[in-house]
Amino acid sequence: METVNILAQNKAAWDSIGCDAASPYMEQEMYADLFKQFCQSLPTKARVLDVGCGPGIPVTKALVKAGFNVIGLDLSPKMIALAKHNVPDAQYTCKSITDIDYVEEFHGVMASYSLLCLDHDMFVLACGKIFLALKPMGYCFIALNEGVCRHSDALTRISGQLVYSRVYSEAEIKGAFSQMRIIRLGRAIVESSMYGREQSIVLLLQKPA
Ligand SMILES: C[S@@+](CC[C@H](N)C(=O)[O-])C[C@H]1O[C@@H](n2cnc3c(N)ncnc32)[C@H](O)[C@@H]1O
Repeated sequence: METVNILAQNKAAWDSIGCDAASPYMEQEMYADLFKQFCQSLPTKARVLDVGCGPGIPVTKALVKAGFNVIGLDLSPKMIALAKHNVPDAQYTCKSITDIDYVEEFHGVMASYSLLCLDHDMFVLACGKIFLALKPMGYCFIALNEGVCRHSDALTRISGQLVYSRVYSEAEIKGAFSQMRIIRLGRAIVESSMYGREQSIVLLLQKPA
């Protein structure tokens, strides 16, 4: 699949999936615990970028509730419309994570199961852009599905829509964030009616001073 097709495919697919995309992950103990640590690591009223915010529930909403100044970003206009409705107190931008150009603007970046919608080249590009967007000493929270990707695995059906979504190995993730310090890494099996059974990996990372 060409790079441009992955983005076009996923934009159309997530537009159709719409509100079905509310995440089951916050109910998972390991995820909730790392999310709490991410929030506690940030200063009061921190600026936080929520990459691939989806419909805003529950992640964007929880970030706003924690008192942060949140920008939700998503490729899908439908997701952005839903997030604006569900969490009106955040700001939003509709674009691909691969197109951001922020420089040291955020205390925190949240990427909850969104970078898995990118192939390896775009993933490395996006991780570099997240690094650049963070202020020195800033934190990022990265949640992905873990595994070794075979190309045939990359297209999967979610709510009837064909989505590009792949697994990443620990080595690939660490390679893409090689300039960041790993504060904590968690793993869990997550089962949900929407996504089935997944091996989840979550990392809390910090940018150096
Ligand atoms: C599995 S949902 C996760 C939603 C939310 N972060 C959560 O954890 O509940 C993936 C989201 O990533 C968005 N997405 C996919 N590719 C993207 C890209 N290249 N740039 C920004 N968002 C993207 C999709 O539109 C979708 O809303």
